[in-house]
Amino acid sequence: MADRPPIDEDRRRLNAWLWRLPVLLATGGAAYGVQLAYRIHFAKVAPADPPVFADAPPVVVAPLARFEAPWTSEAFAVAGLPCVAVRVPEPVPGGTTVGAGNEAVHLVAFSRVCTHQHCIVDLNTDLELVAFAFNHRTDRPTLTCSCHYSVFDPLAAGRAVSGPAVRPLPRVRLQVAQDDGAAEIVAAEIVADGVETVG
Ligand code: FES
Repeated sequence: MADRPPIDEDRRRLNAWLWRLPVLLATGGAAYGVQLAYRIHFAKVAPADPPVFADAPPVVVAPLARFEAPWTSEAFAVAGLPCVAVRVPEPVPGGTTVGAGNEAVHLVAFSRVCTHQHCIVDLNTDLELVAFAFNHRTDRPTLTCSCHYSVFDPLAAGRAVSGPAVRPLPRVRLQVAQDDGAAEIVAAEIVADGVETVG
């Protein structure tokens, strides 16, 4: 009988590790998926209350009269960042109220850059569309992102309420200025508390 070749121990150890590799990769992938699912469903970041704003170049958003009813909105840009100002039916942390009593106009503004992967969000007033396409049943308009179906709640200061986004939309501070006697809305500061930063 022919002599058996000697066993190569190094090769044997390498083969043993190669067989473990797919198991380790699958375990790591599953662990990543579980922590991602946990963050998306249970660990969405609450917007700061009150937010900390930082200076930005002042920008005229629109005449106050343009916001004639709740959920009217106006798009604008601060330092190249696309934003939207929305009239809301109640005060929102980080928002602005003009006037008082029944005449009060509550406004809040957000960056339109989705905090998931930076697509542009839109104010969506079609509640049935949001329920059907974004899988989020709500009683109010929301800011929605069509890329991966994240939904942000303006009345909750831009909190992510559905979809893969975890962080809220950064807010922009609005102020009232007078232009030839007519009130206009100006944006001059953007949130800078280290939590809601874009990017
Ligand atoms: S970029 Fe908005 S949900 Fe992904």
